[in-house]
Amino acid sequence: MVIISPSILASDFANLENEIKNVKNGGAEWLHLDVMDGHFVPNISFGVPIINSIRKKTDLFFDVHLMISRPDKYIENFVKAGANSITVHFESFKTKKSLLDTIKLIKSYNVKCGIAINPSTDVNSIISYLNLIDMVLIMSVNPGFGGQSFIYEVLSKVSLLNSLKKDKEFLIEIDGGINKDTASLAKESGVDVLVAGSYIFKSPDYKIAIDSLK
Ligand code: DX5
Ligand code: ZN
Repeated sequence: MVIISPSILASDFANLENEIKNVKNGGAEWLHLDVMDGHFVPNISFGVPIINSIRKKTDLFFDVHLMISRPDKYIENFVKAGANSITVHFESFKTKKSLLDTIKLIKSYNVKCGIAINPSTDVNSIISYLNLIDMVLIMSVNPGFGGQSFIYEVLSKVSLLNSLKKDKEFLIEIDGGINKDTASLAKESGVDVLVAGSYIFKSPDYKIAIDSLK
C-alpha cells in the first residue's frame, strides 16, 4: 500500500494544528515538510522553529525535504526538531565526498536519509548511493512552489529505480503535481510514497482526497 505524505506548504498556517489533525484523521501516515531557503530555490517557506512546534502536536512521521544550499550545516537542528527522515538534494552538493559525509551524518542520528533529484537531473547520477540511503525523492515539478503541473517524463526514473530494487531496501517517493490521475500513473511506475500538497489541502474533504490517492 502506498504511503501518503501531505505537504503542509499548501495548508492554512494559521490553523496548522487542526490541518495536521485532519490529514491524520483522513488516513495520512507521514507529513511532508518543505524547507526552502530562498537561495537553493527562489522561495522561502519555514524552518526549524515551526517543525519543533508541530512536533509537540502530532506523532505523524516527519518527512523533511530540505531545499537549501548547505543542508550539511543544519542536519543536527532538524534532527533535534523532530525529523524522522531527512531528504537532501543531490544538486546541493559540489562534491561526492560532501554528499557521502552528509548521508553518514544523517544516518548517525538514526534518522532515515533520502536523496532528491530535480526533474532535469539524470537518475544515473544517484545510482551509486542507493545502497547507502533509505529513500529516493523524484521531483515531478521544479522545486520551489506548490500547485505546479506534473512533469510526466520523470515517471521513467521511477520505473528504472523500481527495476533496481531487490528487497525494497529503499523507498521511492514522488513530489509535485500529484492528484488522483498522476498518483495512479506514479503507482503503476512503482512509487512507495506520494507527496501531495494542493490536491489534499485545497480539497473540501481531506479523507476523500487521501483515499483517492491510495
Ligand atoms: C515543491 C515541494 C512540494 C510541494 C508539492 O518544491 O517540494 O512538496 O509542496 O505541492 P503540490 O502537491 O501542490 O504540487
Ligand atoms: Zn517537497
